[in-house]
Amino acid sequence: MADDLDMLRADIEAAMAGAEDLRALDAVRVAALGKSGQVTALLKGLGALPPDERRARGAEVNVLKGEIERALENRRVMLEAFALDARLAAERLDVSLPPRPTPPAGPEAGSIHPISRTMEELIALFGAMGFAVAEGPDIEGDWHNFSALNIPDHHPARQDHDTFYLTAQEGGRRPVLRTHTSPVQIRTMLSQEPPIRVIVPGRTWRADHDATHSPMFHQVEGLVIGRDIHMGHLKGTLVDFLRAFFGIADLPVRFRASYFPFTEPSMEVDIGWSRKTGELGQGGDWLEILGSGMVHPKVLANAGIDPRMWQGFAFGMGIERITMLKHGIPDLRPFYEADLRWLRHYATSPLSPFTLHDAA
Ligand code: DAH
Repeated sequence: MADDLDMLRADIEAAMAGAEDLRALDAVRVAALGKSGQVTALLKGLGALPPDERRARGAEVNVLKGEIERALENRRVMLEAFALDARLAAERLDVSLPPRPTPPAGPEAGSIHPISRTMEELIALFGAMGFAVAEGPDIEGDWHNFSALNIPDHHPARQDHDTFYLTAQEGGRRPVLRTHTSPVQIRTMLSQEPPIRVIVPGRTWRADHDATHSPMFHQVEGLVIGRDIHMGHLKGTLVDFLRAFFGIADLPVRFRASYFPFTEPSMEVDIGWSRKTGELGQGGDWLEILGSGMVHPKVLANAGIDPRMWQGFAFGMGIERITMLKHGIPDLRPFYEADLRWLRHYATSPLSPFTLHDAA
């Protein structure tokens, strides 16, 4: 091929290689093959050549034109692929969680989760009042979780609990993940002779999830059965407990008439706080903190205890809730996320177990 055509091809190829996007590449195409492009001008100039030269030169210019067209097409395909890659990279969403700090080695490696800590505190405080710890299974029968507690079929409380049901067992009703710790009242009364004095800290389950609700959470139940246990015992026990737990000796405590199927009468218990600042103990507002009442005679009878001879009180409260209030923890969800930054802030050292000296 003639030198001038080789040089022109080299120029055009260099321009093409330098074209970084489709627009720049189109400018190269116009400059070469457009109406007044360089190759077009060569084709137009053929007419002025003598016939024998024209044929040879014409063939060469047409070869050049074909090469340039193919090179433009290749470059176009390449630039389009680059553009797509760039777009995919720019639009990519990183859905992975950022890495979390790894645990330190050595004596600092472990700490007590706030839920466990509160359970220790509950056991220590109620232990000092003569309460033993009772336990029951997370998977409960319908009878223990509802019916024996005087929550009959179709009772609205069944719906209120947003129950997780398990697959039905042969012939029976579907088992449930216990919606409260109250079924352990029944288990305890069935397995122990009164008098009874127990607390039941444990896991509970409801299909509910937001900043203050988790499908798995914890409650503590209390049950006291004796010959002459009355509401004075209930009030004294709970007032003493709440003041000791929150470390406020004059914490205002209010008992408010309420309804639970398994107690009669029933009371909700409120503590004094400030709605504005969140501070406990003062401010003139009331915050509901637990449910309680005198155990319903039907519940005693369902659990094989003669209600003419025995009576008592029960209570139940959320462990996360009292933990959040005590430590000013605003959100429930991090309790179960095992984030070491959160744990370093809220967890306690295993070397400083809770003692009664910590209580008010
Ligand atoms: N079981 C109730 C609940 O989950 C709480 C409760 C209220 C327990 C009153 C009791 C009680 O023992 O007497 O909401």
